[in-house]
Amino acid sequence: MAEKKIIAVVGATGAQGGGLVRAILNDKSSGFAARALTRDANSDKAKALAKLGAEVVAADVADLESLQRAFQGAYGAYCVTFFWNHFSPEKEGASATNMAKAAKAAGLQHVIWSTLEDTRKWVPLSDNRMPTLMGKYKVPHFDAKGEADHVFSDLGLPVTFLLTSFYWDNFIYFGMGPKKGPDGKLAITLPMGDKKLPGIAAEDIGRCAFGIFKRGREFIGKTVGIAGEHLTGAQMAAAFTQALGQEVRYNDVPADVYRSFGFPGAADLGNMFQFKRDFNDVFCGPRQPDFARSLNPVLQTFDAWLAQNKSRIPLA
Ligand SMILES: NC(=O)c1ccc[n+]([C@@H]2O[C@H](COP(=O)([O-])OP(=O)(O)OC[C@H]3O[C@@H](n4cnc5c(N)ncnc54)[C@H](OP(=O)(O)O)[C@@H]3O)[C@@H](O)[C@H]2O)c1
Repeated sequence: MAEKKIIAVVGATGAQGGGLVRAILNDKSSGFAARALTRDANSDKAKALAKLGAEVVAADVADLESLQRAFQGAYGAYCVTFFWNHFSPEKEGASATNMAKAAKAAGLQHVIWSTLEDTRKWVPLSDNRMPTLMGKYKVPHFDAKGEADHVFSDLGLPVTFLLTSFYWDNFIYFGMGPKKGPDGKLAITLPMGDKKLPGIAAEDIGRCAFGIFKRGREFIGKTVGIAGEHLTGAQMAAAFTQALGQEVRYNDVPADVYRSFGFPGAADLGNMFQFKRDFNDVFCGPRQPDFARSLNPVLQTFDAWLAQNKSRIPLA
């Protein structure tokens, strides 16, 4: 039997990378093997991946040598950064640079870089529709990823730029789920007006990434976007109402109000939603669910995701 092509997966114990590792391990005949990168090979999550059949290797995106060791002998790598762990656009750039350098040193044949738009291409810093943050960003966690795209192409890497979408899992883990208002009614709060928000089940991102690796050279040098569905706040509220069996409203707030909520990252997320709202065609256009389904035939709709996950959504 031919040797399997190893995919080194950064963030393997997390949302995007975890989905990819499980997708690879669930497809025994694909010819691919999963190498799960983690900072702690002894954690419960890492051990669970080993038990499923992944090779678990220690690496930290801040440590170039550890990445070089972890990428050695692999066919490809899935590269993702962890903005919400450090809130630093500069660290995003440094991590991306380390992954690109390690990919080059290992001579990888296919790299997927999990990126997002540099929103400053559409909203220059001089544009006062939204505040400039940290001195030189509009949406720091987007801009830093988009800005890092060139480090992969400058090194001549065989890279696919993957534009991800809002995880519906944010309704479980990111404090964005339905909350009771002063009137006692549940509502989801988003500054999206009547515009559509491309969303996806986090687990489906890795499955789509696996679909990209399986298609060989087809998407090398290309930017591809994925989403499970594009839905307005009102449509998501209606789906919540149906799934939870109690009314959930859509609380549309101005982006300024969202930015003022005060939780860590509120201004960044307020600008992000405003970008998605005000440049809705730019944002939705490259993220077509039909295309994502061609990569991942089990792509979930929001209703399907809710049916699986509604009991995990904290209803404060
Ligand atoms: N939430 C959304 O809607 C959304 C949408 C699109 C894009 N994103 C982007 O997704 C990115 C995060 O990806 P994710 O959600 O898959 O992450 P995640 O679920 O938070 O998981 C991150 C995993 O990466 C590992 N990790 C953390 N720091 C590391 C480091 N320095 N070196 C190596 N591994 C490290 C951790 O594993 P160990 O502890 O095992 O090392 C952790 O389990 C963010 O940059 C965010 O901007 C998020």
